[in-house]
Amino acid sequence: MKALESLKWRASVRKFDNSLKVSDKDLETLLEAGNLAATSGGLQPFKIVVVSNNELKKQLVPMSYNQEQVATASHLLVFATETALGKNTVDAYVDRAAEVRGLEHSALEGYKNSMYGYMDMMDENQQQAWARNQAYISLGTVMTIAADMKIDSCAMEGFEPLKYQEALNLKSKNLMPVVILPIGYRSEEEVMADAPKVRKTTENFIVEIN
Ligand SMILES: Cc1cc2nc3c(=O)[nH]c(=O)nc-3n(C[C@H](O)[C@H](O)[C@H](O)COP(=O)(O)O)c2cc1C
Repeated sequence: MKALESLKWRASVRKFDNSLKVSDKDLETLLEAGNLAATSGGLQPFKIVVVSNNELKKQLVPMSYNQEQVATASHLLVFATETALGKNTVDAYVDRAAEVRGLEHSALEGYKNSMYGYMDMMDENQQQAWARNQAYISLGTVMTIAADMKIDSCAMEGFEPLKYQEALNLKSKNLMPVVILPIGYRSEEEVMADAPKVRKTTENFIVEIN
């Protein structure tokens, strides 16, 4: 039951100890966890942008409704959807699958055509909403693995995506920030992290259909 213990330990931390840094090795593990997350069709229509520069993190605070955890965290992970989605997204996957699994492209033809159809079914807004969903699965995976490693985090939607896009020069990379995750270690002043979790009762959360 170690997994549940980690989830009970996890809490959204707003006060980080800014003297403590997540090591390069642990950061690498977290990013790999994010990359290993399941996505629809395996298409991974998003990227994780890592912000470690202290000055830059400070500049992002006013674009985050003055939420200081953006600056006091060790690193800020910005989950950003790819804005140029379409057949090219499928093609990139097919190229990579052929490379990793040593397959001929012809063996992936059926998959490719069905995913072309899937992408075609959605307009641009729907594609972005779909991509956002995939990014959130990765977000949850990173948060869970971080908790297992006793690394704190705080998922955040409270920021201005367009301002972030500009500040981080993401437009030129065809990326749109959708959710952010400061990571680091909780400060001793963080009192809320140990407060009992407010969650629905099991009866109110689980719907059993027999
Ligand atoms: C997608 C998402 C966005 C959130 N945005 C913010 C935010 O902008 N600022 C903040 O302080 N907390 C934010 N939170 C944290 C939630 O308030 C928190 O998860 C919730 O109150 C449950 O508390 P816990 O995470 O400590 O268990 C966000 C959480 C999620 C999952």
